[in-house]
Amino acid sequence: MSSKYLLVTKKVKKFNKTLQVDGDKSISIRWLLLASQAIGISKAKNLLKSEDVLSGIDCIRKLGIKVNISDNNCIIYGRGINGFKYRKNIILNAGNSGTVGRLILPLLIKSPHKIKIIGDKSLSKRDFSRVINPLNKIGVKFYPRGKKRLPISILGSKYLRPINYHEKRGSAQCKTCVMLASLNTPGEMKIYAKRSRNHTELMFKSLKMPISIKKSGNVDFITTSSPQKLDSFNLNVPGDISSSAFFIALTLLSKNSQLVLKNINLNPSRLGIIKILNKMGASIKTKNIKSIRGEKCGDIFIKSTNNLKAINCPSSLNSSAIDEFLIIFLIAAKSKGVSYFKDLSELNKKESPRLKLGSKILNMIGVKTILTKDSIKIFGNPKIVLHKNYEIKNYLKDHRVMAMCTIAALTLGGVWKIYDPDSIQTSFPSFIKILKKEFDVKFL
Ligand code: S3P
Repeated sequence: MSSKYLLVTKKVKKFNKTLQVDGDKSISIRWLLLASQAIGISKAKNLLKSEDVLSGIDCIRKLGIKVNISDNNCIIYGRGINGFKYRKNIILNAGNSGTVGRLILPLLIKSPHKIKIIGDKSLSKRDFSRVINPLNKIGVKFYPRGKKRLPISILGSKYLRPINYHEKRGSAQCKTCVMLASLNTPGEMKIYAKRSRNHTELMFKSLKMPISIKKSGNVDFITTSSPQKLDSFNLNVPGDISSSAFFIALTLLSKNSQLVLKNINLNPSRLGIIKILNKMGASIKTKNIKSIRGEKCGDIFIKSTNNLKAINCPSSLNSSAIDEFLIIFLIAAKSKGVSYFKDLSELNKKESPRLKLGSKILNMIGVKTILTKDSIKIFGNPKIVLHKNYEIKNYLKDHRVMAMCTIAALTLGGVWKIYDPDSIQTSFPSFIKILKKEFDVKFL
């Protein structure tokens, strides 16, 4: 698909479906980065083949790692810890991916040459000081000095030291950056991290890497150090709950419909969406739970309902739903009462300023909001039905804005022109295909 816009003119008809979504993005990126540091051949099944993950693969290929991708498998020929081939004048393009951009840096901290990291327009607006600062303390240099955004160059060092790092945002990317830096740093990295998705911790544990975790309230005290070596490892990547979220919303906002999503990652640190929606009156269930390398996976069962009610969302759930807020806002717009989401300044620091844009889109469809720099009140209307024409443009090609608007069009009505539909390739390449094949959606 490469049309200029997606034209959505009809709501989805009632459905009763079982389906799978693409592989989890966070786990896919972590697997490929760690497999590049392992010795020998690592294989992944169901690896997400989205633009973000392909950017990660391009980066490690430029660093001398051989990668084969076929329909079902991805094979990485790892060269061991710090086994990258550091040529001069390497430029790595992280594309749209904050995760690739921020998590490749700690693997480069021994590079004898400067390596330049670039990204697309959206990524070049995002803050990198959050990972530059701890890496500086470890002994890594960045150029130009003091620059906070891409493009930047990193220069490694032979003289690296472990740090005590206090992660206060609840950012898994920042926490993971320091954890990955410990692969190449002598001594013990000590991290006090506000709780966030823990895929890196689980992967370290399953690879028997040195890690200890002590939990206290909403903070984890993590220590990591370098393993002698890292053995190659295979992984079967479960479906992405962040992609599932759009089909959960499609079901909740449609009439008389039900859906089963098979083999989805159900890591508790990602389940904010289910907790929030169940507090709002949905009854989403998870079943057939198993564990893959420490990651809980299973099936999600969703039924549509007429009884969605507003939520005063506890900020303790923010981190575990951070990528799902746009679609949660849409559901709040069709729920009874005034919903309130707070302490969400991080949301404006994503691929687009999502708190602001989410509010703007709701206003466009006639839903009142009160927006501050870190909170939103949404005045829900369970009877909302749209008849007008809506255009979605200039949204920094944020994949989750694209998917949110597509779901709004398919459930609330109206005629929607959604520009840059290819933006969804960033995280969920099968999104449109699933809508066409499983839900009989016709895009004009
Ligand atoms: C991610 C962490 C989150 C999330 C992003 C993926 C990860 O970002 O928004 O899409 O894979 O670690 P922050 O850690 O910056 O909140």
